Amino acid sequence: MGRRILATVLFVTLAAGAFAAGASAQPQSADQQIYETFRAWIGQQPRAVQESADVLEQYRAKLVKDGVSPANADRQIRVINEQADRLEVERWNQILTSQKPAFNTQPNAFLVRMVQGRKPGRALDVGMGQGRNAVFLASQGWNVTGFDPADRAVAAANQAAQARGLKLTTQIVGSEQFNFGRNQWDLIVLSYVSFREELQKIIESLAPGGMVVVEGFHRDTTAKRPVGGGVVFDTNELLTLFAPLRVVQYEDLEGPTDFGIGEPNRLVRLAAVKP
Ligand SMILES: C[S@@+](CC[C@H](N)C(=O)[O-])C[C@H]1O[C@@H](n2cnc3c(N)ncnc32)[C@H](O)[C@@H]1O
Repeated sequence: MGRRILATVLFVTLAAGAFAAGASAQPQSADQQIYETFRAWIGQQPRAVQESADVLEQYRAKLVKDGVSPANADRQIRVINEQADRLEVERWNQILTSQKPAFNTQPNAFLVRMVQGRKPGRALDVGMGQGRNAVFLASQGWNVTGFDPADRAVAAANQAAQARGLKLTTQIVGSEQFNFGRNQWDLIVLSYVSFREELQKIIESLAPGGMVVVEGFHRDTTAKRPVGGGVVFDTNELLTLFAPLRVVQYEDLEGPTDFGIGEPNRLVRLAAVKP
């Protein structure tokens, strides 16, 4: 089992309930169900298990202990191992383009607050989804680039922009393929996406004076529901991750989250500027 699978699965695990609600119009395939069940399980494991090299072996052992036949368990592991990337893209396409969205389709409130009064420049929206933040920024005069591997979500973002007479520059790629460049972004948005593996690239790619805006879940949330390690942060962890920057705002609060809406959760938010 490769680290790539873990990176994929841990990138942005969302509560299984939110998936079910968001994708209710489209029934899940058997492979999607296998993948979702695995995601729900891994989302509730301690970080050490989530990041362990043999997490799939541990999951297989759990399945067999629960009464799944060894042959069926092997099949499930094969699906997860071989199809995680495809299933991840499909799940986000379904969630983000659902006719009954189970997430906040308005721009992220912290981002709106942090860019207020800021001179628009070049913005990068990492894992842009269906473009709620990118379209908002474009409407405020920002020159926005966004990327995401979920092709139908990106298409929806471009359509939403066009409908408002706005233009986005988009790419259908994951963070691992995207060329962040150096010293070029006046704003980088990290809204409910995983970025630990790209942190150095992100900081290098910010222009001097440029700002990064982050929102994700505090680890406490995982006690209530499965949320993937990629978008989960420990107390003050964002401050440590962005220590090379000048933090202008940090918040740790109970409040409504943009994903898994309807339940109050512990959120963390950070805005920081490159000196
Ligand atoms: C919870 S959604 C957040 C979307 C958007 N940032 C927002 O706040 O509306 C997570 C997004 O991460 C995207 N994603 C999954 N794997 C990714 C990767 N390897 N690189 C970049 N984005 C990825 C998903 O397709 C999905 O659009």
